[in-house]
Amino acid sequence: MANTLDALRRKDLLQTKGLIDGKWSPAATGETFRVVNPASLDVLATLPEMGAEDATQAIVAASRAFASFRTTTTARQRARWLRKWNDLVLENIDDLALILTLENGKTLQEARGEVVYGASFLEWFAAEAERAHGQVVPAANPSHRILTAKQPVGVAALLTPWNFPIAMITRKAGAALAAGCTTVWKPAGETPLSCLALAVLAQEAGLPVGSINVVLTLNKVAEVGQALCENSLVRKLSFTGSTRVGKLLAQQCSPTLKKLSLELGGNSPFILFDDAQIDHAVEALVMAKFRNSGQTCVTANRVYVQKGIYDQFAEAMLKRMQSLQVGPGTQEGVTIGPLTHERAVDKAMQHIEDAKRHGGHVLIGGAPLPDLKGYFIQPTLIRDMKPEMMTTREEIFAPVLGLYPFETEEEVIGLANNSTVGLGSFIMSENMSRCVRVAEALEVGMVGINVGMLSACESPFGGVKGSGYGREGGTQGIEDYLAVKPILLDVNH
Ligand code: SIN
Repeated sequence: MANTLDALRRKDLLQTKGLIDGKWSPAATGETFRVVNPASLDVLATLPEMGAEDATQAIVAASRAFASFRTTTTARQRARWLRKWNDLVLENIDDLALILTLENGKTLQEARGEVVYGASFLEWFAAEAERAHGQVVPAANPSHRILTAKQPVGVAALLTPWNFPIAMITRKAGAALAAGCTTVWKPAGETPLSCLALAVLAQEAGLPVGSINVVLTLNKVAEVGQALCENSLVRKLSFTGSTRVGKLLAQQCSPTLKKLSLELGGNSPFILFDDAQIDHAVEALVMAKFRNSGQTCVTANRVYVQKGIYDQFAEAMLKRMQSLQVGPGTQEGVTIGPLTHERAVDKAMQHIEDAKRHGGHVLIGGAPLPDLKGYFIQPTLIRDMKPEMMTTREEIFAPVLGLYPFETEEEVIGLANNSTVGLGSFIMSENMSRCVRVAEALEVGMVGINVGMLSACESPFGGVKGSGYGREGGTQGIEDYLAVKPILLDVNH
């Protein structure tokens, strides 16, 4: 299996510069940073460490492009560009998946899944471009007519995380460009290469110069973030990442009152009632917990299992986890890749040690894998989890799974809602009335019933409470990039 960037079919997909006003650009200061493969710690590429000056140039370029993009392109034209971009992404799936696996660590199979998922947003928003239109509103005054127009808000800054470097860009950029906004992308410094490859394909699809700009940084994230937040030419900012950073960006955006979408941290409850089908629940939990090595915002973080099936489920899960295979994502048969950061291994170990201190029992795993060079940890199963444990309050973001016991529906709703955040949630039960009751009672943005996955381009993605606001995907996704303008007129004038 290919395991270096030398195996790329299209060498031009590997770009090592930022993109400003259609030109591949170095950092104004000439500084650089390195992108590292988390499975081997090999350096994959050296990229420009851009700062506020570069970000400002990118904003100015996007703003200049917006003047013509909003007036001279039609929704149909933008839809065609997005469709072409979708086709090119799918045509280049092998190369994109390889880049993604090498920089992020996820398995090649998962990386291919992300390319398909990422492309789906381009196809979806291509269709939405022409559907997001205004209305004729019946006016109370018989002489009056009210028309509403939906107009792009302006330059959109798109800040994306390292866990889904392709899908998070397309989910935001697909919506922004469909609406008629121009964009400045700031991908995570750990995983910028797949995003740059996407930019190459977007240009090839025909998207105009300046409609996409890419600012790269690893160590000047705060400086670049501030430049994007404070610049009044940026009218919309969309961020996926931690609640802490989301709050900071919201503060920095407040003087210019930008439109904001914040998809922030989660602490998803996964609730398993006595009447759930155990085999199905095991597979759903493997998907919800171990996708991307546990590094998803909607990952099952607190797994609540009703007492009647607790022991049986723990046994079944243990058996299933014995078949998980850890290793580099490029290796055949591997199902769990490395974590993307060294500090993620430390954090996972803190959760494990804390659980053990409070009476949790490790059934499998529980340690890093020192024989492998990268950031690896054993998939870990812990039983007898307790409310006072660290995992109850904080995302683990690693393949570490803790099982909490509960007795009643009322009790588990209280436990699940006892969180400052509310992003995803999962319910496993054959009793549909109960599923709907619980789904309605949970303080979260999304609920999955008897499924282990919440993501689909046609479904609005987002949270409540400390998980942020705004929705991405679905018919709502494009609205966050549009302003509604009523135009009132007197027909008897
Ligand atoms: C996320 O982890 O933020 C995104 C996950 C998804 O879209 O499925």
